[in-house]
Amino acid sequence: MKALLLLLSVLSSRTRGSHLVAERGSPDEPDRVPVRELRLDLSAALHRLDPRFLSVTIDASLAAEERFMLLLRSQKIRTLAGALSPAFVRFGGTRQDFMVFDPVGRQDATAAPPADDCGAARLPAWLEGSLKQNWTQQLLLLQKEEQQREYRRTRFTELTVDQLQSFSSCCGLDLIFGLNALLRTPRNSWNSSNAAALLRYCEARRYRMSWELGNEPNSFEKKAGIRVDGGQLGRDFTRLRTMLSQSSLYRDAGLFGPDVGQPRDHRADILGGFLQSGGGAIDACTWHHYYVNGREASLENFLDPEILDSLAVKTSEVLETVKEASPGTPVWLGETSSAFGGGAPGLSDSFVAGFMWLDKLGVAARMGLGVVMRQVLVGAGSYHLLDDDLNPLPDFWLSVLHKRLVGPEVLKVETVSEDGDRRVRSYLHCASRKSYRDGAVVLMSMNLGQRPVRMRVPVPVSNSTVETFVLQSDRPGEDGLRSRSVKLNGVLLEMLDDETLPRLSGAPLPPSDHLQLPAYSLAFFVFTDAGAAACH
Ligand SMILES: *[C@@H]1O[C@H](CO)[C@@H](O)[C@H](O)[C@H]1NC(C)=O
Ligand SMILES: *[C@@H]1O[C@H](CO)[C@@H](O)[C@H](O)[C@H]1NC(C)=O
Ligand SMILES: *[C@@H]1O[C@H](CO)[C@@H](O)[C@H](O)[C@H]1NC(C)=O
Repeated sequence: MKALLLLLSVLSSRTRGSHLVAERGSPDEPDRVPVRELRLDLSAALHRLDPRFLSVTIDASLAAEERFMLLLRSQKIRTLAGALSPAFVRFGGTRQDFMVFDPVGRQDATAAPPADDCGAARLPAWLEGSLKQNWTQQLLLLQKEEQQREYRRTRFTELTVDQLQSFSSCCGLDLIFGLNALLRTPRNSWNSSNAAALLRYCEARRYRMSWELGNEPNSFEKKAGIRVDGGQLGRDFTRLRTMLSQSSLYRDAGLFGPDVGQPRDHRADILGGFLQSGGGAIDACTWHHYYVNGREASLENFLDPEILDSLAVKTSEVLETVKEASPGTPVWLGETSSAFGGGAPGLSDSFVAGFMWLDKLGVAARMGLGVVMRQVLVGAGSYHLLDDDLNPLPDFWLSVLHKRLVGPEVLKVETVSEDGDRRVRSYLHCASRKSYRDGAVVLMSMNLGQRPVRMRVPVPVSNSTVETFVLQSDRPGEDGLRSRSVKLNGVLLEMLDDETLPRLSGAPLPPSDHLQLPAYSLAFFVFTDAGAAACH
């Protein structure tokens, strides 16, 4: 509360030199700070999302040198990833289609799985240090391969799946493993023999997991000189589904795909053809989305309402295609982030990335995309949630707050703005039932502008007490947008130690009809006793 008051007074002294009071909407407040009216509909949910809505990925490039998979045993990663449960962790990406399972044939391969030693078998500090140090070298190598688009075939052993399985089960995450679709027969159908060997190993170890096949098949030709059309890919998926159904462990396992890149103008899309022959094989239809090219992206791009609005356009196109070819199939974002090509260095890993991330979560939910998998939790690129030292970046904290506060029911909210300004954006959900009582709602809002604004919510919501969680950079102004640190209600967010996150508590405010949104801020407002009919 003290922190919030401080924040409010800093804010007001910067804008007009007099002090705002914490109770919003006091009648003598001068009207210099623009007001946005919100219209809410609490009567019914637009959509109900998967509890794992906010999910993450680990790029398959982490396994290009298999020993780096051991980083997943770091205590810090496990603490941080565990805070995002329940969620999927998808292992895949460009390199998945160059990976071949080459088991060393461990003696105990068919033995019962090891008793889950989540506490034990942590990475010794010296090994973690050495791996992190060598990772810097490895990143340069990966970058070079990516730039030249020449991917080496990578062999991986039991170690990769063992590490993924241990990591996901100990962190309460559901593993999705992306299989190589570029192993082809002379007749250009999928050669499933390597996948069969991997399935046999995973089944013997009783590893519960879901599956994918191929990554961005629309650019197979560019990456590997192999063309696979949608119809063939659909038949390949049907083949994989048959293999799964023959296994007692994987009979009901999830199969997701085809992980196509986003629709682009004037380019024939393979999604429609895929759904016609393979729609019946999948549990969810996945596609990938990035707003901008990481090599060209600017700070302004991250704050540009038009760029943020482009996600809704692409989403409509995909939803339309799926509705026509395979009605009723859930649609998910199977891999997504701010900027493609590994992210925009200095931007995708900084505070400003949060605007794209929170807006994406808001738009995806409002349009009914059931799961959104963030590229990446950890690994190559600058769009990671944890940096190369495994410390949390601003988007990690935003993700944890979303996970704790936001429930699966999506509600309708409209921001009324007479001047058509799209820089104040809001999304509304039922609040998470794990943290709040029935009827509570959470408003997610962001201010892309350099001036503070107020938002007015109607009764009866305005009669509810509010818990506010305001995220701002640790530094003011434009410079702060590039910061790798973030403050919650004025307090810098940092891990207390490798096993402990700070308390992420909201600042309680009494009922009133104005909410403050500082310049360049992201916020969650939980109306604890809104009594929303849709949230019972
Ligand atoms: C890191 O690289 C050095 C030098 O190449 C090597 O000796 C060392 O074994 C590597 N450490 C790990 C953990 O791979
Ligand atoms: C599939 O791949 C395996 C392993 O490389 C090979 O032995 C087999 O002949 C291939 N099958 C077909 C039909 O191409
Ligand atoms: C909201 O609060 C106002 C002022 O306390 C009160 O007059 C009004 O009846 C309340 N409205 C609802 C719907 O609870």
